[in-house]
Amino acid sequence: MKNTAQPLLEEYQLGELKLKNRVVMASLTRGRADNPGLVPTPLMAKYYAQRASAGLILTEGTWVNSKSIGFINVPGMYSREQVEGWKLVTKAVHDNGGLIFSQLGHIGSASHPDFFNGELPAGPSAINPQTRSFTPEGFKDSLTPRELTIAEIKQTIQDYKQAAKNAKEAGFDGVEIHAMVGMLIPQFLSLATNQRTDEYGGSIENRARIVFEILDAIIAVWSSTRVAIKFTPVALSNVGIMKPDEETIPIFKYILKRLSDYNLAYLHIVGPAENLNGTDVEVMQDNYFSHFRNNYSGRLMANLGFTQESGNAILKEGTADLVSFGAAFIANPDLVEHFQYHLPLSEGDMDTYYAGGAHGYTDYPKAVYSNTAAHSDDADSE
Ligand SMILES: Cc1cc2nc3c(=O)[nH]c(=O)nc-3n(C[C@H](O)[C@H](O)[C@H](O)COP(=O)(O)O)c2cc1C
Repeated sequence: MKNTAQPLLEEYQLGELKLKNRVVMASLTRGRADNPGLVPTPLMAKYYAQRASAGLILTEGTWVNSKSIGFINVPGMYSREQVEGWKLVTKAVHDNGGLIFSQLGHIGSASHPDFFNGELPAGPSAINPQTRSFTPEGFKDSLTPRELTIAEIKQTIQDYKQAAKNAKEAGFDGVEIHAMVGMLIPQFLSLATNQRTDEYGGSIENRARIVFEILDAIIAVWSSTRVAIKFTPVALSNVGIMKPDEETIPIFKYILKRLSDYNLAYLHIVGPAENLNGTDVEVMQDNYFSHFRNNYSGRLMANLGFTQESGNAILKEGTADLVSFGAAFIANPDLVEHFQYHLPLSEGDMDTYYAGGAHGYTDYPKAVYSNTAAHSDDADSE
């Protein structure tokens, strides 16, 4: 149904899936899998179920194998116990009428030996990404990693495939590949962290190869319209040496052109958090999402700093098909209803973003709706 006042509240056909609105919950690492096996818990099921009025939920980034870990208490998607734990989550969300994709990730060189019994993490090249890893002993600086062998790269791609299979078995509705800056995939894309001389380094085509090998592996498991990918092409802060460079625009042009042939669920693009003037990507400062709209022919999901107003505006002008909200979902489990009734948003407590139990996780109340205090934008029956 159309909703001319608020396109965010319109239904949306995403391949075979019917989303009840265009408000997507973006992935939020919350560090609540506080058990040695990194198994999703009943508390996590409750948390996601509380947010099931979103058109689609994207889980926190989850690990595709035991070598991909780099942040404490983040759940995995590689063991039997983890699959069983995720079944609790998908069932709780489905029972509440929601849809949920699993976000599959690998942190590559941005990890720390504390996660690997003292052994170095591995990345595309033996280059310190100069970021920080949240270890059991707090934040620690990244080190110079080991370079992945070709055999290890091939195995990693197979691990993505297995994790995608596991997500299917666990009852998810699809998967999103986590390719935000800091993760393994963008470490391959960046000139600063990839100085390989084999088929995974050098030219744009070689550095982007892993994106398509991972996608091809996953599409052997899921139909393409259940598979998505999330990029942050222009992140400047907290990304160590992986800043946009003179090849960022050409490599993304190449990636977008090839992705256009995949008929994916959507391409998820995070906007700029800072002013891009004076950087190699300054042409994207204005009309940022149009650059992606014009270079990619599939469905586009826009993210970063959206409000009810700007989310409705970008959908209305047609520059994006879906909008995702991250931080707002932490303290407003029923964000959609807030939009529907024009209610003010609560602020989340940042001290409990990445750690803790139920407090700051499942104890944010739902809004109180009152016919006198708020008016609803129900869908027009057009
Ligand atoms: C606490 C927290 C954890 C996050 N964890 C992830 C993650 O696991 N995977 C991911 O792709 N993005 C992650 N993000 C980024 C969000 O998905 C989103 O891109 C970002 O918050 C910008 O959207 P917003 O302005 O609506 O919050 C995280 C953000 C926050 C605040």
